[in-house]
Amino acid sequence: AITHVILTGGVGSRLWPLSRKSQPKQYLEIFEEKSLFEMTVDRNSHLADKVMVVGNVDNHHLSGNVMNKSQTAYINIVEATPRNTAAAIAFAAFASNPDDILIVTPSDHIIDKIEDYNNAISQAILKAKEGFIVTFGIIPTKPETGYGYIESKGDKVLSFREKPNETTAKDFIAKGNFLWNSGMFCFKASVLLDELKQFQPEVYEKSKTVWESNKQGFLDLETSLEIPSISIDYAVMERSKKIKVVPASFSWSDLGSFESVYDYLVSKGHPIDKNGNMVIGCNKHTVFLGLKNTIFVYTDTANLILQKENSQDVKDIYSELEKQN
Ligand code: GDD
Ligand code: MG
Repeated sequence: AITHVILTGGVGSRLWPLSRKSQPKQYLEIFEEKSLFEMTVDRNSHLADKVMVVGNVDNHHLSGNVMNKSQTAYINIVEATPRNTAAAIAFAAFASNPDDILIVTPSDHIIDKIEDYNNAISQAILKAKEGFIVTFGIIPTKPETGYGYIESKGDKVLSFREKPNETTAKDFIAKGNFLWNSGMFCFKASVLLDELKQFQPEVYEKSKTVWESNKQGFLDLETSLEIPSISIDYAVMERSKKIKVVPASFSWSDLGSFESVYDYLVSKGHPIDKNGNMVIGCNKHTVFLGLKNTIFVYTDTANLILQKENSQDVKDIYSELEKQN
């Protein structure tokens, strides 16, 4: 079977205060009429036979609401605590048959040119059936440090580098054969698990233990805390020799940080002043004096004023606030 696995356990900490633990960004209806999560479900519904949602106990009712509304049958995996994407993907693979093909997607992206998206997924499924782990490569537009980079030659992957520093990212862009990793993957369940076992045996073993004692998809907190928290990018993509890339001609926007939200909103005609300042979240007349490329984020309970270049640092504020709570 072909299964669409939706990862939705992240809290979107780089979009605080728009994104909250109780209301992560993929469930906000701020970008379109529908939430990003719902758009993800719709976009993939005709590409797969089954849907699996890997979310967390703090907000799985939000994904539940969307799934019930669309009357989509789905396998629900509820993490007791986020242990990052290597574990989240491992749970999905353990819940599948070894030969099942998994299309793993985040739930917080905007994708356009849907024909091209469908084609890319079809190509990926073919390669996944041959035993490869398929990534989707986006043509980079700037030396973004929040993404993974795929050094490619045709569909071959020469190397994978997760979140390089700025100097390295600039170097990659200058070289010309590096693509951004879209954060979506396609593979056979058994292939991913074999690679994880080889490169991160502890994540593999501990996730297996946790999965095997699940209660109707609900995972145990105490044993979950023992799983090393590492993303699939560092755990497998940077090390596996089985990676292939499908170049993505669909349009892709990761709304991961305020910088990418800014770029997306500008492309949709959202106003900025002559110095590139932007207000998000309210319609009040706002004046920026002596400021450039500043983003003012307004919500009912908290505001954030940031320099666009500092977008990647917002997660630190979030962690600080978490500690205080
Ligand atoms: N269930 C679950 N559990 N989901 C999680 C967890 C977890 O512990 N942690 C993160 N997720 C979900 C997030 O909600 C998101 O949908 C997806 O997994 C990816 O996590 P992010 O935290 O958004 O990753 P990233 O943006 O830093 O990096 C990834 O995506 C980039 C493109 O958007 C990487 O794959 C990069 O290489 C890639 O460029
Ligand atoms: Mg992301």
